[in-house]
Amino acid sequence: MALNLLLGQTLGFTGDPFQQPWQEVTRHRRDGAVLVEDGHIRAVGARSTLTTEHPQANITDYGKDLIIPGFVDAHVHYPQTAIIASWGKRLIDWLNTYTFPEEMRLSDPDYAAEVAGRYLDIALIHGTTTMASYCTSAPGSVTSYFEAAAKRRMRVVGGKTCMDRNAPDGLVDTAQRAYDESKALIDNWHGKDRAVYAITPRFSPTSTPEQLHALGELWAERPDCLMQTHLAEQTEEIAWVRELFPNARDYLDTYAQHGLLGARGVYGHSVHLESREVDQLAEIGASVVHCPTSNMFIGSGLFDLMGLAQAKVGLGLASDIGGGSNFSMLRTMAAAYEVAQLRGMAAHPAQLMWLASEGSAKTLHLQGKVGHLGAGAEADLCVLNLNSTHAIDQRGRNASNFWEVLFPTIMMGDDRAVRQVWVAGQPL
Ligand code: GUN
Ligand code: ZN
Repeated sequence: MALNLLLGQTLGFTGDPFQQPWQEVTRHRRDGAVLVEDGHIRAVGARSTLTTEHPQANITDYGKDLIIPGFVDAHVHYPQTAIIASWGKRLIDWLNTYTFPEEMRLSDPDYAAEVAGRYLDIALIHGTTTMASYCTSAPGSVTSYFEAAAKRRMRVVGGKTCMDRNAPDGLVDTAQRAYDESKALIDNWHGKDRAVYAITPRFSPTSTPEQLHALGELWAERPDCLMQTHLAEQTEEIAWVRELFPNARDYLDTYAQHGLLGARGVYGHSVHLESREVDQLAEIGASVVHCPTSNMFIGSGLFDLMGLAQAKVGLGLASDIGGGSNFSMLRTMAAAYEVAQLRGMAAHPAQLMWLASEGSAKTLHLQGKVGHLGAGAEADLCVLNLNSTHAIDQRGRNASNFWEVLFPTIMMGDDRAVRQVWVAGQPL
């Protein structure tokens, strides 16, 4: 097996910078090296040490570029790739006007395959190597997604989006079909190569209690799967959930009552949570996913990053394509920084970088496998040029430490900052 040695600056984490001082859990090396063999990271260390210990390795010298794990985007809708940046609607109108008609088009397997490939290629050029995607209610859209990912050798999470009410006829299934089709897809895909299945009820407004219950039973039968859904994204949506589920204590309870609350549950958005919901999420060990560009684009609200971290709820970061307005996790980190500022807190660049890698991986129960720069992790890597534009470069030249060099790329960078991506130990 070929040994590859990548030289450059390296940045990794040994712990969670929201729970411990970032200085204690951050590992930055100016003269760093990453040893890759057989699709895995074998070692991360000093350039001088690893070049001496592995004289036979093929060396790629990235100079001052920063080697990090490929970004992990914990909540996207690949079928919405072609409707990103659709103007002028809030959540429910946005779904009815733009999203559902486009998702219906993916009932054509050829179109689904084309969009899946297009989405994954766009993600990769932005340095995102793993994502958790909703597909459509058509099982073929799930097959297209996992096939496109397998072709690119990517580790991805996905699932059939289940809906049996409040959506067009061409998209709704039934409780039984949601169960049967999801189960067949789990049998076909979960654990195959790098695929991970997430049972995916879209959100409470588009599932009857019967469908939520059927999917809760499926999750109980297949507890090794993830479960992804939306939670408390927008105030009008929450009012609608209250009407549809008069007996539920709150939004989270609509899931809990049907077996859809668990440690492997991933709850997108979670902008307007009641304190009872926060406590229950923390107690169960479930995760929420911050989708800052989407929450601003659709007008949903300001996610309580620091409050949820303090409550010890699992935290990931996501673009939420196509409600989100950018494929780049750098742009997404910038938006997370700005939203935190609007809530009176400054997120440290170490915290932002952790969210886009380790944090998101942990929400998907892939910690140590992806989003991690350390021995044993899968070798999905992103090499960032920290001087990718004149505007960034001139700010970096004025910097007095590494974080001041990195932060302008977080705030102003995009796909131009991505010098190289490695997937499963191979450069693209
Ligand atoms: N809530 C239910 N479905 C969706 C979706 O596709 N995008 C967003 N942002 N929120 C949702
Ligand atoms: Zn979503």
